[in-house]
Amino acid sequence: MEGKKLDQYFKLIKIVTPFILVVLGILGYMAFYSNQFTDVGYEPTQPIPFSHERHVGQVGLSCFYCHGNAEKSASAGIPSTQTCMNCHRFIKTDSPHIEKVHESYNNNVPIEWVRVHKLGDYAHFKHNVHIQAGVSCTNCHGDVAKMNVVKQVKPLNMGWCLDCHRGKTKVEIGEWTKYKVHGEWKKDHQGFIAKDKCSICHY
Ligand code: HEC
Ligand code: HEC
Ligand code: HEC
Ligand code: HEC
Ligand code: HEC
Repeated sequence: MEGKKLDQYFKLIKIVTPFILVVLGILGYMAFYSNQFTDVGYEPTQPIPFSHERHVGQVGLSCFYCHGNAEKSASAGIPSTQTCMNCHRFIKTDSPHIEKVHESYNNNVPIEWVRVHKLGDYAHFKHNVHIQAGVSCTNCHGDVAKMNVVKQVKPLNMGWCLDCHRGKTKVEIGEWTKYKVHGEWKKDHQGFIAKDKCSICHY
């Protein structure tokens, strides 16, 4: 009697275990790719309705006019009010939005722009290496020149970084020519091979 019960018990475990493993697998996958489902589409309202579409698409400014740090350092940086004042000292001074720019400048209080793209503190990203390798901003930020409000369009998770580093992504090249495009190109010129050791991004 006892032995038969034990047999049935083991049979049950044999049937149930694969299901438990599948469920754990799905949960693990969801955790691993979770920010793919949470951050894409993030489009916070900014304190002043600054439009990239107008300043890049229409006025014709280069990204580097305001984000010049991107080619020199890890972070691309957000321009100070001083940069806006180069033009808005004179342009559109009757607008209530530009009044806010003047207020920030006169009181020496920075505009509190809301951060859009942000990695966890345990992962490190460097703009300069990408820009100097010729990787265009569009690969990671989408077509900002057409955005009225900046929106996150790429997942920025590890799988996404690695797909490009392993040459699986078609890479758009920046129009800047001062740097020679380097990194080892795949035969089909679709992607770069960059390093994928854990320690380049986690330290
Ligand atoms: C006239 C200055 C100016 C120019 C030119 C400009 N930007 Fe910006 N950019 C800003 C300001 C101000 C912000 C912060 C407000 C916002 O997010 O809209 C910003 C924000 C951003 C962000 C979001 C930063 C975050 O919080 O994650 C990205 C990405 C970006 N810019 C990319 C670009 C790209 C790419 C170009 C060229 C196509 C460009 N910018 C040209 C001023 C500028
Ligand atoms: C190279 C010159 C230039 C720079 C630098 C510049 N702007 Fe502008 N901006 C313009 C022009 C031109 C317009 C369009 C004016 C018009 O519609 O008549 C404009 C329009 C605007 C408007 C819309 C105003 C309205 O009410 O229609 C805002 C807001 C604005 N800019 C904010 C900023 C901010 C914030 C910065 C700094 C991050 C900045 N601009 C930097 C030239 C510039
Ligand atoms: C290979 C991907 C990649 C490329 C190319 C790239 N960015 Fe970024 N960008 C990111 C990531 C990832 C973040 C978030 C970084 C963090 O949180 O540490 C970011 C953040 C930013 C920010 C927020 C402020 C900051 O410095 O972190 C701005 C502004 C920005 N990028 C502008 C640009 C511009 C302009 C270009 C092109 C000249 C560019 N980026 C090219 C991936 C990229
Ligand atoms: C090219 C850069 C890069 C490399 C190489 C890399 N990671 Fe990551 N890793 C990231 C980014 C980006 C994230 C997500 C950060 C975020 O969500 O803000 C991440 C997230 C993680 C997480 C948190 C769970 C998750 O997936 O969100 C772990 C654990 C991790 N990495 C371990 C590793 C290990 C182990 C290696 C080596 C086999 C490695 N990483 C290699 C960029 C990298
Ligand atoms: C569109 C392609 C692309 C994407 C997406 C991308 N990278 Fe890169 N990455 C490159 C290229 C190209 C290089 C430079 C390779 C070279 O110079 O040999 C590079 C270099 C790096 C380096 C410097 C490695 C070293 O020490 O030499 C780091 C760190 C890095 N990437 C982190 C990241 C992280 C973190 C992400 C995701 C948030 C990311 N990258 C997304 C293409 C990309």
